[in-house]
Amino acid sequence: MKLKGRVALLTAAAGAGIGQATARIIAREGGTVVITDIHPERTLSVAKTIKEEYGVEALGMQCDVTQRDEVEAVVKTTFDKYDRIDILVNNAGTNRPSQIVDMTDEDWEMVINTCLRGAFYFCRAVLPFMIKQNFGRIINIASTAAFMGLDHGHAHYAAAKAGLMAFTRCLAMEAAPHYITANTIAPGFIHNEFIPHIYPKQEIERMNQSIPYPRKGVPEDVANTALFLVSDEGEYITGQTICVAGGSWMH
Ligand SMILES: NC(=O)c1ccc[n+]([C@@H]2O[C@H](COP(=O)([O-])OP(=O)(O)OC[C@H]3O[C@@H](n4cnc5c(N)ncnc54)[C@H](O)[C@@H]3O)[C@@H](O)[C@H]2O)c1
Repeated sequence: MKLKGRVALLTAAAGAGIGQATARIIAREGGTVVITDIHPERTLSVAKTIKEEYGVEALGMQCDVTQRDEVEAVVKTTFDKYDRIDILVNNAGTNRPSQIVDMTDEDWEMVINTCLRGAFYFCRAVLPFMIKQNFGRIINIASTAAFMGLDHGHAHYAAAKAGLMAFTRCLAMEAAPHYITANTIAPGFIHNEFIPHIYPKQEIERMNQSIPYPRKGVPEDVANTALFLVSDEGEYITGQTICVAGGSWMH
């Protein structure tokens, strides 16, 4: 029960991937979880399931991270209900692969706004509460795509995730005097049931072949890293990017 008494707010946590897995691990450790996601029904259903399975307080609220008003409303409701916000996990991200010559303004904006602007909105809204309570743990989920040259239509995604890493380092500097840490986790290829619907088969094979460690990455690999960073053991780590990638990227 490492997180008993802690209140965690997570974005994009009603899917089948990293967001929900992280919410579950926080709940397993006794933390209160606020599940937000753009998908309203799944959000409520995941919050209800987590509450029943782990016996913790869990609240579900629909929130599109690209919409400032929705973000601010979620943060206010969380604080009004629980009196604190200890952990923020900015998990929302999306990709719409396209070669640069074919990339529309809409493709660019959708990816940048979901991966980067949404994290900025949430950090800006949550920080005053964390500063007041002199405690906070922020995790931003980036991607190893930020480090690589990729020719598979990921330029906007890689740029957004690299921006998120740079943003997180500046955030860590500003927030440190208030005992608030901020770190980025950069997953490599992490399997979930929706991946085959997003990426072509050959690309999935290419990504799997690039992983030296002999098994697929799963959302819990990332969630366990997040748990370490938000728990007392991770207190002195801030401004870092930790790759969870089975060795597919080493630095
Ligand atoms: N899966 C991977 O291989 C991988 C690799 C590197 C990085 N990542 C990053 O990890 C994060 C989680 O990805 P995942 O694949 O584990 O899926 P996930 O299940 O954690 O997230 C998908 C969820 O995001 C929600 N969502 C999409 N747009 C949203 C928006 N605008 N506002 C709120 N919610 C929104 C969807 O409704 C869905 O429920 C993303 O930031 C992704 O870029 C994933």
